[in-house]
Amino acid sequence: MNSLSKYIPIITATALMASCQRLSNQSKQISQSFQPNQLWLDTDGKHINAHGGGVIYANGKYYWFGEKRGSSASEGVSVYSSKNLYQWKNEGLALAKVDDPQSDIAHGGLMERPKVVYNAQTKQYVLWFHVELPKQGYKAARVGVAVSDEVTGPYQFVKSFRPNGNMSRDMTIYVDDDQQAYLVYSSRENYDLRIAKLQPDYLDVTTQDTLLFSQHREAPAIFKKERLYYLITSGCTGWDANKASLHVASNLFGPWQMIKDPMKGPLAEKTFGGQSTFILPVANKKDTFIFLADTWKPKNLIDSRYIWLPITFEAQLPVIQWSDSWRLEE
Ligand code: DGJ
Repeated sequence: MNSLSKYIPIITATALMASCQRLSNQSKQISQSFQPNQLWLDTDGKHINAHGGGVIYANGKYYWFGEKRGSSASEGVSVYSSKNLYQWKNEGLALAKVDDPQSDIAHGGLMERPKVVYNAQTKQYVLWFHVELPKQGYKAARVGVAVSDEVTGPYQFVKSFRPNGNMSRDMTIYVDDDQQAYLVYSSRENYDLRIAKLQPDYLDVTTQDTLLFSQHREAPAIFKKERLYYLITSGCTGWDANKASLHVASNLFGPWQMIKDPMKGPLAEKTFGGQSTFILPVANKKDTFIFLADTWKPKNLIDSRYIWLPITFEAQLPVIQWSDSWRLEE
């Protein structure tokens, strides 16, 4: 036996153990639980690429729409599906960028914070998102609309515009119990947060459009429990995390009362490093809500992480408590 060959079994065993460890780590990450701020692998073993997103429940499955990102580029709206909220299958691009440089969704522009809602009257899925035009940074400040008969798309782009002439950057769509839908959007260089009622087909806004408050907030996310509406927003510090705030109202058009920051735990004062994007009502579980946020990695946006945390209630007010790993109660 030469001097190297006696080490070969040891080297092989070590390599085998390392690759077993890698596999077991990976299978842990193709998740059985929510692990905020960790890599979150889809069923192909790739980090989920659906940032600034929102989720809808349709035909017995959840669909997660989000920004498909390259290291910085905005590459369209991606969609993933899941039955259990832990394991997600990549369903491809719901809305792709287009080659025509005249288009509002041409390559080089931005599509951010996509939210999909279902219109029971028209039987169409409607996608709303923040649009920025190529080579203009965040100046255009528009909202975009696209539709599809199938939840996963492909969605047909309808138009982009400024709602009632107002600038519109971060936004969300909220559908109330009576199926009336609303656009909530950051306006006037993000100083104002506004709400606009949508048309019955959800393809445009109405002129019922009101200022909610002027507190320089963005990243709105809304939910309703027992006739009260809860709105979580972030401050405006670009990709950097800041303190969240909670507002409560009994009417979507206000008045909205500011309540203390609902985050609790390490780095709570910086939303655990993240920024709100959506609040997901869990299907068939009354009053069960999940808070969704993004931990942005501006140097490599595709690597941005997700924070999904349960919303609990203390003295009737929502609390979002940090947890390294958690599961929904069966
Ligand atoms: C904060 C917004 O919430 C994000 O969606 C994104 O537009 C960044 N600003 C860009 O700096």
